[in-house]
Amino acid sequence: MKFFIDTANLEQIREAYDLGVLDGVTTNPSLMAKEGIKGVQNQHDHYIKICEIVNGDVSAEVIATDYEGMIREGEVLAGLNPHIVVKVPCIADGIKAIKFFSEKGIRTNCTLVFSIGQALLAAKAGATYVSPFVGRLDDICEDGVGLVADIVRMYHFYDYKTQVLAASIRNTKHIVECLEAGADVATCPLSAIKGLLDHPLTDAGLKKFLEDYKKVNG
Ligand code: E4P
Repeated sequence: MKFFIDTANLEQIREAYDLGVLDGVTTNPSLMAKEGIKGVQNQHDHYIKICEIVNGDVSAEVIATDYEGMIREGEVLAGLNPHIVVKVPCIADGIKAIKFFSEKGIRTNCTLVFSIGQALLAAKAGATYVSPFVGRLDDICEDGVGLVADIVRMYHFYDYKTQVLAASIRNTKHIVECLEAGADVATCPLSAIKGLLDHPLTDAGLKKFLEDYKKVNG
């Protein structure tokens, strides 16, 4: 399973990249706003900075909600850097735009996916990635990881090439569950990625090894 980091924060992206296990980055307009990135030129510059840190796919989301606007924005975003994947919301014009981009060889991430029917349309339109939002489904007492598992099964059954990118991951348990569900990618906050390292037996074992070493070697 590939790991993407779900942030527009350059320090966090660098920290995850330095760990040596990062395959890409996802951003969205809320994450860009959280970093205070204002105005189209600054946004584009920021995406380029992210691409220069990471040797992998970087999702940049369109703001337009109409077909022509999405095409205009998406073509500019895709031209910023070869790592850019155009992120498009799962609405009717978005599906049409994904079909257009896929025919032009521009890679896409179909975002805001909450049902298997939406995932089917994304795959049929030729999306590179589909992003089911695990945490937001759990927030309303639905089964986010269950949706990931259903999409993975459906794509395998019908041999769709769209990759399942589990999004809205809130914690380490979500990552492990999405791994078990067969997701191709999980996009996660840095804290959830680092949480995979934590185990009290690792800490206790390392402490004992070092104590024993010191007893003999001083
Ligand atoms: C990433 O592609 C999504 O936009 C993101 O994971 C949403 O996460 P949230 O539900 O925590 O805002």
